[in-house]
Amino acid sequence: MGQKWLRNLVGGLRLSTVLLAGIAMVVVVLSCSVNVQNAGSKFTPYSGAEFAEESEDFPAPYEATPMPVVNAMLKMGSVGQNDFLIDLGSGDGRIVIAAAKKFGARGFGVDLNEKLVELSKQYAREEGVVDRTAFYVQDLFMTDISKADVVTMYLLQEANLELRPKVLKDLRPGTRVVSHAFHLGDWRPDDTVLVGNVLWGEHVIYLWIVPAKVSGKWQWRISMPGGEQTFSLEVEQHFQDIAGVATNEKGKWRLFDTTLRGDQISFSLVSEADDRMIRQDYEGRVKSNVIEGTVTLSGGVKEARFQWRTARTETRDEMWK
Ligand SMILES: C[S@@+](CC[C@H](N)C(=O)[O-])C[C@H]1O[C@@H](n2cnc3c(N)ncnc32)[C@H](O)[C@@H]1O
Repeated sequence: MGQKWLRNLVGGLRLSTVLLAGIAMVVVVLSCSVNVQNAGSKFTPYSGAEFAEESEDFPAPYEATPMPVVNAMLKMGSVGQNDFLIDLGSGDGRIVIAAAKKFGARGFGVDLNEKLVELSKQYAREEGVVDRTAFYVQDLFMTDISKADVVTMYLLQEANLELRPKVLKDLRPGTRVVSHAFHLGDWRPDDTVLVGNVLWGEHVIYLWIVPAKVSGKWQWRISMPGGEQTFSLEVEQHFQDIAGVATNEKGKWRLFDTTLRGDQISFSLVSEADDRMIRQDYEGRVKSNVIEGTVTLSGGVKEARFQWRTARTETRDEMWK
């Protein structure tokens, strides 16, 4: 009995040692991988930390986004060499510099913290991207963001919500907005990703595509079985979500399968023509008060596709900001 107890104890100790050794190995491998990711990089979690105090009273304090999260944000924003990226509250400049160095983009960052802006300029010189990047001491709420293809931010919840009307007003439809950690309220993100591991924790990142404004009334005429028909459409819009009812001489027809991604719009409806129900799939590009694209007829008719153009007859003030 005594010997059996001793054997169990020794066996248990062996198992715990193996387990502990295993855990230690995992930690070593993970920390090595973080070191490898940061190898040769100045963008450690502590970069610029000595200047953080000066950002304490700003709408968002200074904290650097971990580099794996920066990379995930740039991938999420589909950043490429033709893109112009603006980081609002750019800290040590890592997002703009990584966009230029790894993805060939151009861009600038703004920050109210002069020392961080100086540090960013120094890093940009050291990383060989001064020709494609710039950093300004500037209030992000007063910054002209209209030329951006991608806007990034890591602020605070309140600051994000304060920024939202500017984002929707100043950015072109199709501009990608990527935020680390904080969302934009009832503007549904187009994508959400969780990045993380046991060492640097979980980080949520969000993507929004700025939608074209399409609410209001639209009208068009298309060729249908039995003759031409005029459609009037009233569109309701909540950010990228749209709904509407089209009306013609035969009745009212609700839109379905609606999508709005930047300036690309598509919707379908089924309506009557020549005593048959005809499906119409519309696709187009919004250019202010005109949408141009194609319509495909199917259902009670041999499939046919032709050019389609509609003009807005009445604009409605957006209910959302
Ligand atoms: C959390 S840090 C993010 C830094 C960097 N974007 C990153 O992700 O590593 C937020 C930065 O925003 C800056 N900031 C806060 N309010 C600002 C404002 N109104 N205008 C410009 N910069 C601001 C702070 O100084 C700080 O450097």
